[in-house]
Amino acid sequence: MNGATLYEKVANDISRLIKNGTFRPGDKIPSVRGLNRQMKVSVSTVMEAYRLLEDQGVVECRPQSGYYVISSPADARPEIEVSQPASRPTKVSISEVVMMVLKNNRDSRLVQLGAAVPNPDLLPVDRLNRALCSVTRAYKIRNISYEFQPGCEELRVQIAKRALTAGCTVTPDDIVITSGCQEAIVFALKAICKPGDTVAIESPTYYNFLQVIEMLGLKALEIPTHPRDGVNLDTLRYAIEHNRVSVCLFITNFNNPLGSCMPDNRKKELVEMLEQYGIPLIEDDIYGDLAYSYQRPKVAKAFDKSGNVVLCSSFSKTIAPGYRVGWVIAGKYKEAIARAKSITNLATSTPPQLALAGFLADGGYDHHLRTIRRAYARNVSLISDTVMKSFPEGTKVSRPQGGHVLWVELPEYVDSLELYEKALKARISFAPGPIFSSRQKYRNFLRLNAAVWSDAVQDAIKTIGALARRKAKAQR
Ligand SMILES: Cc1ncc(COP(=O)(O)O)c(C=O)c1O
Repeated sequence: MNGATLYEKVANDISRLIKNGTFRPGDKIPSVRGLNRQMKVSVSTVMEAYRLLEDQGVVECRPQSGYYVISSPADARPEIEVSQPASRPTKVSISEVVMMVLKNNRDSRLVQLGAAVPNPDLLPVDRLNRALCSVTRAYKIRNISYEFQPGCEELRVQIAKRALTAGCTVTPDDIVITSGCQEAIVFALKAICKPGDTVAIESPTYYNFLQVIEMLGLKALEIPTHPRDGVNLDTLRYAIEHNRVSVCLFITNFNNPLGSCMPDNRKKELVEMLEQYGIPLIEDDIYGDLAYSYQRPKVAKAFDKSGNVVLCSSFSKTIAPGYRVGWVIAGKYKEAIARAKSITNLATSTPPQLALAGFLADGGYDHHLRTIRRAYARNVSLISDTVMKSFPEGTKVSRPQGGHVLWVELPEYVDSLELYEKALKARISFAPGPIFSSRQKYRNFLRLNAAVWSDAVQDAIKTIGALARRKAKAQR
């Protein structure tokens, strides 16, 4: 730092503390006044230093709260590269492997790093239970009656209000309540596609999407995806021009498993491009509220002028997965999706809808989100560091800016299905890479749920690392 100004030196000191883990993503750094006293530099020097760190995307200032770490300073670790899937649509047949993994995800004797479930200790159980009791008392008959589609009005009002934070101006009438985000996606695909049609998806993508595509007799076309910025739009355009693509199904914010988040200007470009080709977009925003930064990213739906984007989401990652409450803002496809909902299961269960509406109306959801975002940023950072310390040389790990999953690339000689079998014997589960691809690519990748940090989790990651390193030794 020779020749650096004083504020650059201060910024550099804080950077070092973040790099060595003293402060982690999610943590508050010293206040401006605190640091000015501690380091005996002026308030304006500290402010300049913090502004520099803000420009570097390392910290952010939160109104009336202070400065928080949002990501580690640029590190020299090699990054996972843009994926290179096959360029032809393919039939999907991954259900058997997925079913085996899902079965193990339910085994309570295993350290669970497999399913992308939220940390139960971070869910607002007591407040939600109070909301449930209060609607049970207040509504009596309504509470045990059907809330026919489009679903509970009070809840749709709350969802429409919250949609503003994602850049979306919608009315409660634009929303259909579903039993979770997955159900919304199934209805959207059913409304748009017929068997044999091709669905463009990110590569890698959430394995349940692949299962739905398989179940509906559709084909998957995997599109190269950048680990931070999401789908490559040039390749998508090329793919659309050379294949008959019926719909795109993308997780635009904090993709599962990659963690990628498409920048807002690229979301706009995506929406305009698909509009031009007359191809609808089904957008899954289930992780959007889990941004580590103060302001959550927009949804692609925010740029939709013609109703071509079908936005699906739920409360499964933020409040209560077991409530099974999601929603769809379906644009042009609203009637078809509402009909599918009605034919399939008449309505989503009433008490959870009313309880969620009460919970959201009471306020405090933003406070809850701030708490869980900070916790996930921290846990993801701790687990990521443990992976880098314990896995074989050459391992790369994703750098999500939201959500709670990590995508890990191991050296090519490690077969993650083989590693999975060995980990099961050591009573650990994770999600092996091949289940995230229609062609069962990603054999040397795996996904870890990083929602929980504990001694058992730390030991489990070290064990997976040791098992993978054994393979490295055998290779030599
Ligand atoms: C990207 C994505 N979409 C949808 C779901 C399922 O959502 P829900 O439980 O609301 O049906 C998950 C669950 O892991 C997910 O990761």
